[in-house]
Amino acid sequence: MNAIIKKLDEKRRLARLGGGQTRIDSQHAKGKLTARERIELLFDEGSFEEWDMFVEHRCTDFGMADQKVPGDGVITGYGLINGRPMFVFSQDFTVFGGSLSESHAKKILKIMEKAVQVGAPVIGLNDSGGARIQEGVNSLAGYADVFLQNVLASGVVPQISMVMGPCAGGAVYSPAITDFIFMVKDTSYMFVTGPDVVKTVTHENVTHEQLGGAMTHATKSGVSDGVFENDVDALLQLRRLMNFLPRSNKEKPPVIPCVDPADRNDYSLDTLIPENPNKPYDMKELIAKIVDEGDFFEIGEHFAKNIICGFARMEGSTVGIVANQPMVLAGCLDIDSSCKAARFVRFCDCFNIPILTLVDVPGFMPGTDQEYGGIIKHGAKLLFAYAEATVPKITLITRKAYGGAYDVMSSKHVRADVNFAWPTAEIAVMGAKGAVEIIFRGDIGDKAKIAARTKEYEENFANPFKAANLGFVDDVILPHTTRQRICRSLNMLKTKDIKNPWKKHGNIPL
Ligand code: HXC
Repeated sequence: MNAIIKKLDEKRRLARLGGGQTRIDSQHAKGKLTARERIELLFDEGSFEEWDMFVEHRCTDFGMADQKVPGDGVITGYGLINGRPMFVFSQDFTVFGGSLSESHAKKILKIMEKAVQVGAPVIGLNDSGGARIQEGVNSLAGYADVFLQNVLASGVVPQISMVMGPCAGGAVYSPAITDFIFMVKDTSYMFVTGPDVVKTVTHENVTHEQLGGAMTHATKSGVSDGVFENDVDALLQLRRLMNFLPRSNKEKPPVIPCVDPADRNDYSLDTLIPENPNKPYDMKELIAKIVDEGDFFEIGEHFAKNIICGFARMEGSTVGIVANQPMVLAGCLDIDSSCKAARFVRFCDCFNIPILTLVDVPGFMPGTDQEYGGIIKHGAKLLFAYAEATVPKITLITRKAYGGAYDVMSSKHVRADVNFAWPTAEIAVMGAKGAVEIIFRGDIGDKAKIAARTKEYEENFANPFKAANLGFVDDVILPHTTRQRICRSLNMLKTKDIKNPWKKHGNIPL
């Protein structure tokens, strides 16, 4: 018996060594952790259960029969994050550059299928040279199988991609289907075709970093939902994110004990809105002041900053927050912000996370750039997402809610459950100046007349009472009571149960 145990120990030792000490050292020299070290950091200590440690590839071409490494370049299994089971695959760059073989793909598929069956998230730690070149079409088939499983699992369990090394070619499409993509600064990149191909085809000279580095995707393309300083930061933040999320579409989000009183008033909110309606203020200040302990996990922080999305807790329960940011482009809705928020709203709706919408929006962004880029179609995504969402929806208008953007931003008309407004809210087709210039075009030369008309318009529309009068706003609330009013509403909505008409699926304007 002892001999057999020794043999097992030796087999495990070899498997744990992956591609060998030299390659491990090289991984460390690049500032990266190994696939195993990453798993250790991600999960509660000692909780990781590994599967398929002894799986090897079956390729015999190009001398591969003699080059087998147990595990075949990916570590798979499940572990606990704050006591809750979650599945992981962690690609091991020290083994054939973490490239994906048929066996490697099968390991990933095995945990994904189980995750869907038990209702637990799948976390992918990506660090791979892409398709295992020696395996040819077998590897491409493996990718396609993973893509399919990604699609089937979408909306059933949260799928999170943490890109911690290369991710290139068609390989990018697995993370792209998952709910969130995060990247690590300086060590990760994603692109469909690398700098050499780009140079050949378009004659552009770009570095890996410029083409597909973490900040490129966080700021320019919006492909990445967040960037982290290094592997340790990334994995600790990932743990933090997972604490906000339910494990599947059948669960409510986790509730954690809350020490922040639900009836906490914050009097500084009474002066948050500047006297001058054209002066910006920081919507993040409002978020920090109303959520539990100011704890906010932002999604897409560096992209389309005119809208803020992220997770927080109210009385211990997760909420998804969508908020216009008056500090950037006056909080206008444009193509990027509409797409960013629409995807976030849909994530929340998939996973039973109530949505809190904070509105200060002067409208949709005008201009040929926006029109040619399809703001009509992209803006409609956000409208569609809010309208179809059946989770509890609470809306607070702090200042401007103009035009179509008023309708879109979780208005009563797209089935928001509770709509509040601050006394500073202005709910109208457009701002006073623009409105008067249109309806009294003939009087434009007469300054006194225009001033009088503007005042009349402001008195009539630049307030929340017209909307409150019609029941489109349920109450006009004192800013300092905001947290309490939202907490009470969320409590009341805990048992909300509505269903959309049966359909195979809707046809969101993509
Ligand atoms: C097999 C691979 C590999 C691959 C890397 N390796 N990529 N083995 N298949 N795709 C191996 C290398 O041979 C090397 O082995 C080890 O991994 C580390 O690679 P290095 O090149 O030494 O590392 P580095 O300098 O850091 O460069 C990393 C890299 C580069 C940029 C990822 O390896 C690279 O360009 N690889 C090829 C990428 C690629 O073209 N993949 C196919 C993309 S198309 P040794 O034994 O020396 O340690 C694709 C299609 C997917 O993926 C389609 C889905 C539909």
